[in-house]
Amino acid sequence: MSTEADMVDLVIANGILVTPDGMAPGAVAIDGGRILAIGTDDAMPQARRVIDAGGHHVIPGAIDVHVHFREPGFSHKETWASATAAAAIGGVTTVLDMPNTNPPTATAQAVTQKIALASSQALIDFGVYGYLGEDNIADLAPMARAGASAFKLYLGSDNPLVPCPNDGAVLDAMAEIAKLGLRLTVHAENTGILRWREARLRAAGRDDLEAHLEQHADIATVEAVSRIALFSEWTGCKVHIAHESCRHSLPLIADAKRRGVDLTAETCPHYLLLSTDDAERVGGNALRVKPPVRGAGHAGPLFDALSSGLIDMISTDHAPYLPDEKRQASIWRTAPGFPGVETSMRLMLTQVAQGRIGLPDYVRMACEAPARAFGLYPRKGSLLPGTDADIVLIDMAATSTIKAAELHSIGNVTPFEGMATTGAAVMTLVRGHVVMDAGRIVGEPGWGRPLAGRG
Ligand code: NCD
Ligand code: ZN
Repeated sequence: MSTEADMVDLVIANGILVTPDGMAPGAVAIDGGRILAIGTDDAMPQARRVIDAGGHHVIPGAIDVHVHFREPGFSHKETWASATAAAAIGGVTTVLDMPNTNPPTATAQAVTQKIALASSQALIDFGVYGYLGEDNIADLAPMARAGASAFKLYLGSDNPLVPCPNDGAVLDAMAEIAKLGLRLTVHAENTGILRWREARLRAAGRDDLEAHLEQHADIATVEAVSRIALFSEWTGCKVHIAHESCRHSLPLIADAKRRGVDLTAETCPHYLLLSTDDAERVGGNALRVKPPVRGAGHAGPLFDALSSGLIDMISTDHAPYLPDEKRQASIWRTAPGFPGVETSMRLMLTQVAQGRIGLPDYVRMACEAPARAFGLYPRKGSLLPGTDADIVLIDMAATSTIKAAELHSIGNVTPFEGMATTGAAVMTLVRGHVVMDAGRIVGEPGWGRPLAGRG
């Protein structure tokens, strides 16, 4: 007979545990916010609470290393409260937030302030990116000390808050970041090409979605991926290619990895599942995102690269905007981006249901690979004993349709509007605490913690 003192906090019983290596019926024992043991149901200790998984799949929470949660500065598009609610519903338990806020996350003070702001609202755990610019190379080490989880380099930026630094500054900064040991995530497009083409297209009176695609020609990203792989090899700075959108980059990524460059890459559901053929359904200009969703012929190779592990992980580039910002007649005035954290898992599980990937593959690309790349493994992204009990229960039989009006983001215009999905998160736990149950938020804002500074 167990005494109260012997009992653990929680057992999730009667599930199917999924790791990148496979699936097996089992249970998870949780105590003090950490996984104590995994095993068969009858091997579990007595628990103060038992959750019957009802035969559903049990996976580590998804980690999205590329989100724009908009605060400070743009609370009308999204807040940490709304975004992390969307994430919890979507089975995401950890995010890394991009620095193109206002003020940009470009100093130690800005890192500290963003962590404080996010800590008061977040339902899930989070890290913040520090911005790499021409004027703040001396701020990189202080930002790391203040708790930045990684850095972001905007090659290919037209945003004055986070301009693209010159290559000399990039090289110096990468040498510095190599010493700090953090990873540098890169928006890999060539700013010169983007600027030149935009001016040429505007001068020619072009103002359509196709002009955006011509501006962001394949060569603009191929060149930047090639350059950043070379700079990474030269400086020893670990790099991560953000939002890979182009099949012509894939041989460069493969070649860099073969050479031993510490380079990882992500792609997003919109590059895997959409093409310009979807523009009309999506509402034309609303498909605008940087880099662009390209013509048919890219999604298939990108999907194959993600399946094979050449592209390491799935992220979302969650970038919400209000309907007014997305529905503009001019492509140049149409805001680029859309929300993603709430829909990514459903969309990818639909691919699992269709037999395009296995559930263990999904766990590798959504949980384990991002944790490994950003130094979080095995604390995040695994079901190993001793690690944070960030756990998601999945119902592979849950069918529904994506509707913007049902999303929790403030800026909710989505190119996946009306898409049928199969498979969804039905419960999300962060460090052993249930934050989402059956599609409802049950956690408290402020439960989420910053990644940095915790052992
Ligand atoms: C992002 C945004 O709106 O913050 N938009 C986008 O189209 N991807 C900016 C970015 O990721 O560069
Ligand atoms: Zn982004």
